[in-house]
Amino acid sequence: MPDAVSHLNLAEIELAAKARLTTLAYEYYVGGANDEVTVRENRSAYEKLSLRYHVLVDVSKRSTRTTVLGAPVDFPVLIAPTAFQRLACDDGEIATACAAKAAGTVMILSTASTCTIEDVAAVGGRQWFQLYVYADRGLTKSLVERAEACGMGAVVLTVDAPVLGRRERDLRNHFHLPTGVRLANVPSSGSVPTPTGYGGSGLGTNFASGIDAALSWRDVDWLCSITRLPVLIKGIVRGDDAAKAVDHGASGIIVSNHGGRQLDTAIASVRALPEVVDEVAGRVEVLLDGGIRRGTDVIKAIALGARAVLVGRPVVWGLAADGEAGAKRVLDLLRAEVDLAMALCGCPTIGDISRDLVVA
Ligand code: GLV
Repeated sequence: MPDAVSHLNLAEIELAAKARLTTLAYEYYVGGANDEVTVRENRSAYEKLSLRYHVLVDVSKRSTRTTVLGAPVDFPVLIAPTAFQRLACDDGEIATACAAKAAGTVMILSTASTCTIEDVAAVGGRQWFQLYVYADRGLTKSLVERAEACGMGAVVLTVDAPVLGRRERDLRNHFHLPTGVRLANVPSSGSVPTPTGYGGSGLGTNFASGIDAALSWRDVDWLCSITRLPVLIKGIVRGDDAAKAVDHGASGIIVSNHGGRQLDTAIASVRALPEVVDEVAGRVEVLLDGGIRRGTDVIKAIALGARAVLVGRPVVWGLAADGEAGAKRVLDLLRAEVDLAMALCGCPTIGDISRDLVVA
């Protein structure tokens, strides 16, 4: 089998990952809620947007560099938080952190990491911490404190998962973590055992036992009060909620439907983006994830007002295909595609990408 470096695009890397992963792991990552309508629409929404490119612009010198919350990044693609990366490769989140550092971008580490916050932070580079709020606020606070103490640059609060979406693939596969793979940062509920009885998902059970379904705007105030780090709210798909998030102290919004893994038939993230951008009106930066697979997708999201985008599943496919090198290959491919699309759109810098570049 060719190594990830010879794959030409993200779809080929996913195929290589599929060939290497167990069915349980591949379906956990690829799957979404119910009929997976939103998973598909996150992608197809980009195909329905067309680029109105400029011509006769000197694009002989180009730069994909930008900043996100003041942090410089080599290109506007960050690594989305994804759980249990040691299911994809032995080094798990540590390999992802190395790839992010080498690619000059930000990695967002999931609460459901299978490596400790401290071990991942020790890799260096730029990292943010994604937070699930546990009913045990002492545990939640300690996660935030650990991330802050390790030098992580922001907290990303996921708000679209008060309860876990119904993922039928995981129910069918009796999703569980293999022996030796645990939520490394949550000792009290670190294991995700095989569920008992037919048709259970260990993740569903784990979530139901720890995550706080009562999470509300008050908790956003609380979170902002216990940390000096900027807080981004991830999982917003409406302008009014985005405005509330800013009013409650958020420093950034991530437009996201959790990769279609929570509420099926939720609006595709790129369709939700313009309303959020308009409502936020420049008060904070708006990011987006869901369905990004090509450099042209990145350009479209930026044209519609995103400061940067996040990729989740593609990085996991890279890890599964070839560990750190595979994850790096995914980022390198995306960066090259962004650069090429910028050249062909007549946009030598990220700042040249404007809304009129895209038409539905
Ligand atoms: C965890 O966040 C998941 O979506 O599985």
